[in-house]
Amino acid sequence: MENTHNFIMPRTNLMGVGALKDLPTLLLSWKLKKALIVTDKNIISLGYAEMIETILKSLFISYDIFDGVLHPNPTVSFVQDGLSYFHKGINMLKRDYAFIISIGGGTNHDCAKAIAILATNGRAISDYEGYNKVTKPVLPQIAINTTAGSGSEVSSFTIIADESRKVKMTIGDPEITPFISVNDPMFMSTMPREVTASSGIDVVVHAIESYISTEASPITDHLALGALKLAFDYLDRAYNNGNDLEAREQMMYAAAMAGMAFNNAGLGLTHAMAHQLGGFYTGPHGVYNGVLLPYVIEFNCPSVPEDRMMKISETIGQKAGSKGEAMKKIHKAIRKLCTEIGIPEGLKQMGVAEGVLEELSQNALKDIITFTNPRQASREDIINMFKNAL
Ligand SMILES: [Fe+2]
Repeated sequence: MENTHNFIMPRTNLMGVGALKDLPTLLLSWKLKKALIVTDKNIISLGYAEMIETILKSLFISYDIFDGVLHPNPTVSFVQDGLSYFHKGINMLKRDYAFIISIGGGTNHDCAKAIAILATNGRAISDYEGYNKVTKPVLPQIAINTTAGSGSEVSSFTIIADESRKVKMTIGDPEITPFISVNDPMFMSTMPREVTASSGIDVVVHAIESYISTEASPITDHLALGALKLAFDYLDRAYNNGNDLEAREQMMYAAAMAGMAFNNAGLGLTHAMAHQLGGFYTGPHGVYNGVLLPYVIEFNCPSVPEDRMMKISETIGQKAGSKGEAMKKIHKAIRKLCTEIGIPEGLKQMGVAEGVLEELSQNALKDIITFTNPRQASREDIINMFKNAL
């Protein structure tokens, strides 16, 4: 029986405390002339962009900074603003950027990916919604990560909110995988508590969804379970003490491992539903995911093999004797972790109204991220899951 798996990840991944020090050597061998830095004003004020500027100056690489990413969701308008750097040259001279450096969390990496697509492929970003729609090579990207969650720095996906339609578009293409990812926990110690919580619970969702995905492989299984264990061991520590560098480092590894797992195994309904909430309400992606996850696992449970449910339960320290017992223990453990890190119990607390759920459910079905969910869902199934999570 044919059963193949492609495994895609950045060519080089610099990881660990002080990992940034190896970036100049890599850049030197590229011999590139000009970079566009994509970031936000908070990253500038923390001095992180300046650290990258110092590296670029030492290599005589010129650069411009686009710091117009303004809130936790990457949007079409941020992408358009960033793209304008390519088309509105100074004194009519074209700005010939050879590569893009994104500094920040998933939002900044995702905006940079979309800019990198449009800079060489043209058209509108909505034209690339779906999988494998990019036809020309994109600008090479270096993703310098400052959060532990999205996995965008190691992934082939960008999720862009289309404000006009109030939906989030999933765009996937191996072409948009960053060339280099930098995961240095030094950048993560300043992450605010709520970002630690929302990005950290996203890691748990990435790990579980990729482990029960229809495209899971032995490689993604080990990455997913390893990430899940680390997140359950260290997320509350990182949340309670942001300066706990060991917890920050372990959460960094958890996030990168879960990112590599989902990049190759895919995700599922939790993400498809969270994307719609994010597109409609603009709340933090990870928080929506954390609230939804227990209910989506319950729905998926009949289609997940018993040994997989029991393995998830065992990995989070809740050994179970049966599938049913595992389900209950997983549900309870996720809720407990969410409570410990300040994630609300239900969507109502986040301002979600029952009246929009039909529309959101319809849109969730269209999200390509549902393709690898273990159980086929109808619109009614999704509405019910949303209602259970209210
Ligand atoms: Fe996510």
